[in-house]
Amino acid sequence: MVWKNAIKTKKLKPGKTKMVTIGLKVLMVGNIEGDFIATEGLCRHMRWPLAMGGKIKDGCVRCPLHQSTYDLEDGSVVEWSPFPLYPPYGKLLGKMSKKKDLHIYPTRIEGDFLQVEFEGES
Ligand code: FES
Repeated sequence: MVWKNAIKTKKLKPGKTKMVTIGLKVLMVGNIEGDFIATEGLCRHMRWPLAMGGKIKDGCVRCPLHQSTYDLEDGSVVEWSPFPLYPPYGKLLGKMSKKKDLHIYPTRIEGDFLQVEFEGES
């Protein structure tokens, strides 16, 4: 396991999220009421970049495209592609790909940086 710098904490204002690239991985990082988070950056449904319009509420992130919702504690799917309801394209599109949880990365603050821990790397 290895910790890598993701972003300077001063660039992450409270309530904001951003996309960052670390090596080959795309992540969403955020400052949610003083808690720093890091998740896989692309929605598991159809790869929408979650920091582009993703809403964070009640400990979850909701993708703006078809509104799949993931719990930020463990990344589990709360709702899978429910939007739009009528016509029911959301449900149809949801059936085109298997439900997948969002990867959540451990974070810490080191100096000026938010760091993210990656497994299986050195
Ligand atoms: S791409 Fe995110 S819900 Fe469809």
